[in-house]
Amino acid sequence: MTDTAAKTLSVVRGFRFEPGHPPRLTVVDQRALPHTLKEIPIDGVERAVDAIRALQVRGAPAIAIVAAYALQLEIERSPETDARKLAELAGRYVERLNSSRPTAVNLGNAMQQFRLLIARFQSEDRPIAWLRESIAALAGELAEADEEICQTLGRLGSELIPRGARILTHCNTGALATAGIGTALAALFTAGMQGKGIRVYATETRPLLQGARLTTWELQRAGIDTALITDSMAAHVLSSGRIDLVMVGADRIVANGDTANKIGTLGIALAAHHYGVPFYVVAPSTTLDFALASGDAIPIEERTADEVRGFGGQAVSPLDVPVYNPAFDVTPGDLITAIVTEKGIHRGPYDFSPRGT
Ligand code: MRU
Repeated sequence: MTDTAAKTLSVVRGFRFEPGHPPRLTVVDQRALPHTLKEIPIDGVERAVDAIRALQVRGAPAIAIVAAYALQLEIERSPETDARKLAELAGRYVERLNSSRPTAVNLGNAMQQFRLLIARFQSEDRPIAWLRESIAALAGELAEADEEICQTLGRLGSELIPRGARILTHCNTGALATAGIGTALAALFTAGMQGKGIRVYATETRPLLQGARLTTWELQRAGIDTALITDSMAAHVLSSGRIDLVMVGADRIVANGDTANKIGTLGIALAAHHYGVPFYVVAPSTTLDFALASGDAIPIEERTADEVRGFGGQAVSPLDVPVYNPAFDVTPGDLITAIVTEKGIHRGPYDFSPRGT
């Protein structure tokens, strides 16, 4: 490992949208990384839903924006000339996209904005072009906003990182997971570029290895001193005085600060709390769910048994062993030292209800 900090940052974007006639949307197939960097075309809603479910595109903000662009593509190419029918079609696409993954609320928050837009179109008797243009404009705004927010998260998150800090992170929260440079990883990239000489311990993140495959790859490309550990090493590493702080992302943060994130986050938070290591969450405000008062109500995605029965595509356990595979867990807000959004650094007791923000 080296102590050299990266001075410039060049990231690989998780998706690319090219406006034009017709517009084109591609995503980097995150299942193939880090050994194969391949872009796959997303030609509409069904392909987007498949890619999101298969985790070819993943990460809470990226899911929402790819879904928004897929909706735009589908509505732009639809031959429908009847305004009422096109609005109904758009509504069905929104619900279909919204059903692709349940836990990350960024998708739900984005789709809600499209619902409101479609409802406005239906009630105001606008020309059909207005619906197409408004959907395209909203998709572009969501992407631009997320890109800008990531920069702010990087700057604010880095304020929490002392020079020479040793940081543990979980899952993948980098450029691949957003429209910008990431969330928690944005803070690490920024600290690296500021020459803070940080060292990052990345958990491998079973079962789908987002940490081992994606986070280590992004950190190394950014010139950041990186060590990969298995998930089961996290408590030991935290107990051994090797870690100054934990920094992770989020899929849904509810009013009291309870935070859903990749399975394994809760265990890390509990161990960090026990050993007095600060535990930070970095996420855009699009990850806030004002409607839920506490984390018990967050829907936790359960994924297929084969993800757990095997490892890196290789079957390991008996092929018929029953499996329980929750993809996320919920860390109580009172285990979180601070939550960084683009609006600032929030400390508990949290109040992310509309009243409190
Ligand atoms: O199942 P994934 O890979 O989509 O889970 C991703 C995470 O849990 C991330 O930590 C979270 O979405 C934040 S991404 C900026």
